[in-house]
Amino acid sequence: MTLEETIGAIKADAEHDLSESSSAKEIEALKVKYLGKKGRVQGLMHMLKDSPADQRPLFGKLINDLKTTLEEQLNFACDRFERDELNKRLLTETLDVTLPGRRRFHGREHVILKMLDEAIEILSGMGFSVQYGPDIESDFYNFEALNFSKDHPARDMHDTFYITGDLLLRTHTSNTQVRVMESCEPPIRMIAPGKCYRNEDVSARSHVLFHQIEGLYIDKDVTFADLLATLEEFFVKLLHQDIEMRYRPSYFPFVEPGMEVDINCIVCGGEGCSVCKHTGWLEVAGAGMVHPEVMKAGGIDPEEYLGYAWGFGIERLAMLRYGIKDIRLFLEDNVRFLQQF
Ligand code: DAH
Repeated sequence: MTLEETIGAIKADAEHDLSESSSAKEIEALKVKYLGKKGRVQGLMHMLKDSPADQRPLFGKLINDLKTTLEEQLNFACDRFERDELNKRLLTETLDVTLPGRRRFHGREHVILKMLDEAIEILSGMGFSVQYGPDIESDFYNFEALNFSKDHPARDMHDTFYITGDLLLRTHTSNTQVRVMESCEPPIRMIAPGKCYRNEDVSARSHVLFHQIEGLYIDKDVTFADLLATLEEFFVKLLHQDIEMRYRPSYFPFVEPGMEVDINCIVCGGEGCSVCKHTGWLEVAGAGMVHPEVMKAGGIDPEEYLGYAWGFGIERLAMLRYGIKDIRLFLEDNVRFLQQF
């Protein structure tokens, strides 16, 4: 067969194959058969090399024409079959556009962070600046400088995670007090929010990890009455309601006098419930006037300056505000719990 005859034969075969095919998949197979790297058109190229030199331009053109025609025919057929197949599928498939869409879960701020931020905002508005102390702390700032000597019995109240003999995980945010006194000149009016750690049994009421906000105010004429007024204003703003407050004398080595602050139980309204252990009152903070020894440790003259300090737990306040009975929920990844806030 001459080259010209072979070209004619290939064209005829392709047209026959095309008329016999009935799907896009079959057309794809024909593309390989005729136009692929080892396809029949490529075979013609090899024959072209062996043909007489004067006929090559003509044959070359014929082969190219064949190639272009086949490409057009096959692509056209392929498009048509694909369209038909799609139409057929659309006729059998149904789509209910009135169905509600799938809901995506969005992350959100953790309830503890939210409470913290709210408390910080209220206190910033009252003139307190925010300071941060380290979670890994020395015995000095966590205890010694706060008037807990090495064998002080009050250390027993702080079940401490020691890292080395001198390094520990801070048991309270009071560790920032002396750090701030060392680095700032009075008047000092600061709050220090952060995580605290206690080596305690985990239960519904206590956890090894919780958050506190420490407050410290040092100036020339700070009074106990200032402390009471500040705490009252803060708790009213944070809990969004009028509350009654009660102060009980208490002992903390770093304040004198020291007290514990109670508010009337906002869960039962003071009637008595399991949250307030049927007393009608809830303990929300420790506070007092800064002890002269602590001032001295911070390089501030207690003859010249006076100060007050307080500390409260954020989990405790969140439990009150939202009526949550188990502190462990805050540290569990329970999405159903967390999404409520
Ligand atoms: N640091 C104390 C605790 O964790 C709370 C506290 C009590 C802080 C009295 C104070 C304070 O600043 O004056 O139990």
